[in-house]
Parts: sequence; structure tokens; C-alpha cells
Amino acid sequence: MKLSPLMKSLGLKYPIFQGGMAWVADGKLAAAVSNAGGLGIIGAGNAPRSVVAEEIATAKKLTNHPFGVNVMLLSPYVKEVVDVILANKDAITVVTTGAGNPSDYVADFKAAGIKVIPVVGSAGLAKMMERVGVDGVIAEGMESGGHVGKLTTMALVPQVVDAVNLPVIAAGGIGDGRGLAASFMLGAEGVQMGTRFLVATESKVHPNYKKAVLKAKDASTIVTGEFAGHPSRVLKNKMAKKYLKIEKAEALKDEPDYAELEEMGSGSLRKAVLDGDQENGSFMAGEISGLVKREQPAAEILAEVATQADELLNGKY
Ligand SMILES: Cc1cc2nc3c(=O)[nH]c(=O)nc-3n(C[C@H](O)[C@H](O)[C@H](O)COP(=O)(O)O)c2cc1C
Repeated sequence: MKLSPLMKSLGLKYPIFQGGMAWVADGKLAAAVSNAGGLGIIGAGNAPRSVVAEEIATAKKLTNHPFGVNVMLLSPYVKEVVDVILANKDAITVVTTGAGNPSDYVADFKAAGIKVIPVVGSAGLAKMMERVGVDGVIAEGMESGGHVGKLTTMALVPQVVDAVNLPVIAAGGIGDGRGLAASFMLGAEGVQMGTRFLVATESKVHPNYKKAVLKAKDASTIVTGEFAGHPSRVLKNKMAKKYLKIEKAEALKDEPDYAELEEMGSGSLRKAVLDGDQENGSFMAGEISGLVKREQPAAEILAEVATQADELLNGKY
């Protein structure tokens, strides 16, 4: 598999990152992906310092390969998560960031020798990130699971590639080797996949959630929170339907009040991941869910995606 200088410097066998998914991507999943030659990434999400420290310790125990941590910039614990990452600078190769602009933290990570690769949803943010000295960007389209921007992967990736002189990793709607090969064609050096790893054998996601992803069709997801703020792509379940009904009704009012939705949304990913709760849980997943048909070990997912991409790139259609 073709590897760019960045991917080689990360010590990867495959140019595939496992998305740092809040609640989902723990030390065990990240280590399994890293051991198999991809880049495993722990999702710090909204977790406090102690939880993130524990997951880093688990990953350290389970792998000698490089792994990363994702800092979710909407978290109330961002500063302490940054501290715990800096305290583990010897073990953490990469920091990815999501849901915002990480400019304030880039210099500290770089000074600690940690590579910084933020998720961007526009060429404008990618350019801003280039100016603060990041090592690459993850251009993520709105097909993805979790928090989403406005542009699609197909349109966003080549425009980010043209806008910056940085390695670009494509994310959003990539589920197999076709997606990886297509990403290379768009100018990316690799991909980040989230939804496909939700159902990895090593993923702790509740069986109800995994089953829902495996059963999903192409149109099984929807974006909630477009009016209330922080749009997220989720599977259409009872929770999503209830949420959208209230959101649409409020949006039509002259003075919308989204307080009830804030309460419903709070802790809803945890309820999905840990309890498989269809009534109150947000089953975040991407449009590519319809393509994900089997629970498989992370190593098998990586090898399958890379082999299919290699075949396509070598002309086997
Ligand atoms: C359940 C879930 C939680 C996620 N949490 C985060 C997060 O905390 N931070 C982040 O940067 N991205 C997060 N993401 C996005 C993934 O890291 C990844 O970029 C995305 O899933 C890629 O698109 P795909 O789902 O189409 O593969 C999340 C995605 C999912 C499905």
C-alpha cells in the first residue's frame, strides 16, 4: 500500500486512521487498530482527565505502536485533557481535534513533539490551521457520523488539497477499499473511518447499537441539531424522531427555546454506547452504515480495506 512521508513517519502499515469517537474509541480499540498497522485514536469526548488518563494507560499497556488522542473542543474538560496528553507525550504520537478551532493548543503540542492533525469541514479552516503550523488536516464531509459540517467529502477533499500545502486525510462516508482508492484520487494521503470501526469486534459499543448499524440502509441516518446548534448525524431511531419533531416545531416559533432538546441531548451518546437505549440514545453513525455488514476484528477491517484499494489502484475493476 502506498504510504506518504507523513504516514511513514507515523510508522503505519496502512494509511488508515480510526476516528477518535467519543465514548466509543477507548484504549482497547485504539490499541487493536494500532497493533494491526492503522492509527488507533482514543476519543477523549467529554471525559475528564482521570478517564482519559486511564484510556491512555490501557493503550500504552496493549500496544507499542504509535497511537493518538482526539480532543473534542466542545468538552468542558479541554484544558485538563490537553494537560494529560502533554504529560504522556512519550507515548502519544498524534493529536487530532474535532468540533472547533484548536489554534490555542497547537504550539504546546508541537513543542512536546506531538503531531497535530485537526478535523476541518472547510478550506477556510484548513488554511487557518496551516498558518498555526499543524502537520496535516482531516477533511471531513457531512456524510460522517457524529458532528457534521455542511460540505460533502467529494467536494471538500479536493478543495482542501488545493487550498493548503499540507497532508490531507479524507473522512466521511469511507467504508471500504473503494472509498480509500477514491480518496487517493481526490488528493488525500489517507483516510479516517469511524462508522466501520463502530462495529469492530474490539469496539465496546452496545450490541443494540452495533445491530442498528449492521441493519442500516443508505438512507437510515439523519442530521439532528441543525437549528438547535451542533448538527450531528445519527441513525433514525425513536430518540432521533422525537428530537427532530421538537426541534422543527421550535424552529418555526419566533422565539425558539431549545432547552428541552439540550436536556435530551445531554448524555445521549453515552446511553447509546453503554446501554443501547433506543428511546433516549443518540446512535451516531454515518451514511456509509448501509455498507457495513459484518462485525469484524479491527485487523481484518484494515486488511480488507487496504487490499481492495490496492486491487482497484492496480487496475482490477
Ligand atoms: C459515535 C461517533 C462519535 C464521534 N465522536 C467524535 C469526536 O469526539 N471527535 C471527533 O473529532 N470526531 C468524532 N467522530 C467522527 C469520527 O472520528 C470520524 O471522523 C467519522 O466517523 C468519519 O466518518 P464515517 O463515520 O463516515 O466513517 C465521531 C463519530 C461517531 C460515529
